[in-house]
Amino acid sequence: MNRFHHKVCLVTGAASGIGNATAVAFAAEGAKLILADVNEAAGKGIEQQILEMGNEVIFVTCNIARKEDVENLINTAIQTFGSLDCAVNCAGIAGKHSALLHEYPEEDWMHMMQVNLFGTYFCLKAEITQMLNNGGGSIVNVASAAGLVAQPGNSPYATSKFGVVGLTRTAAKEYATHNIRINAICPTAIETPMIMDGRRKLAYDSEALEAAKNFQAMKRMGQPEEVADVILWLCSEQSSFITGHAMPVDGGAFA
Ligand SMILES: NC(=O)c1ccc[n+]([C@@H]2O[C@H](COP(=O)([O-])OP(=O)(O)OC[C@H]3O[C@@H](n4cnc5c(N)ncnc54)[C@H](O)[C@@H]3O)[C@@H](O)[C@H]2O)c1
Repeated sequence: MNRFHHKVCLVTGAASGIGNATAVAFAAEGAKLILADVNEAAGKGIEQQILEMGNEVIFVTCNIARKEDVENLINTAIQTFGSLDCAVNCAGIAGKHSALLHEYPEEDWMHMMQVNLFGTYFCLKAEITQMLNNGGGSIVNVASAAGLVAQPGNSPYATSKFGVVGLTRTAAKEYATHNIRINAICPTAIETPMIMDGRRKLAYDSEALEAAKNFQAMKRMGQPEEVADVILWLCSEQSSFITGHAMPVDGGAFA
């Protein structure tokens, strides 16, 4: 398929995991890419990989929690490519702690909101402003299953992801007649550094790994490429009558 030939597509969190797989999938379908991440070294690496695939691509170092970084990102995209057709807001953090709400360190609680919720808001705001200028577009926010059901021990993550779903649904209604579609995806356990090496350390805990697999009806974790396929479909014309969804990507967990 070549659904994104000549399309300008932005991916935040492109240096790792789901964002990385999404960037590569867009490139394979001919997109011009703007990649953003706080991790400059890894971001430059994926930029090089995509250059070698023959695509036009730029990497911009960007902390989505900083409004001025996000504005610079979108300005750079427009100066380089002239428009913005698709945007995938994938950058996010899952936190370091498992703790009850009343014991969760306040500073870390706020930081998670700043990145996952306010960061996604800054991105959406700048992307929508640009898409209104260029006549439309499609946006996918990467929320989480924790944006649909509780995640005990990680209240800031669940709260931020419920917020991303709320932002998605509200913005979808606000811009539905402006040719801008806005959807969210809500993955369960996807095999990326966040889940293998992050808060849940599944790479080092075989019991927790089995539990994470068993949460899905398919009894396995999802792969980042399987999530990227859903994201690209939501960005493509093939989903032209779909907006405002918070779509589980869950191996049957919520069936
Ligand atoms: N892996 C899972 O099981 C899972 C499940 C549900 C939702 N998600 C969501 O998917 C998204 C991607 O996660 P992943 O699993 O690929 O994780 P990951 O850690 O592999 O990748 C996340 C990327 O986001 C970047 N990032 C973090 N904070 C940033 C910031 N402030 N500004 C810019 N970039 C920043 C990181 O540097 C990293 O490259 C996240 O929003 C996460 O919450 C993941």
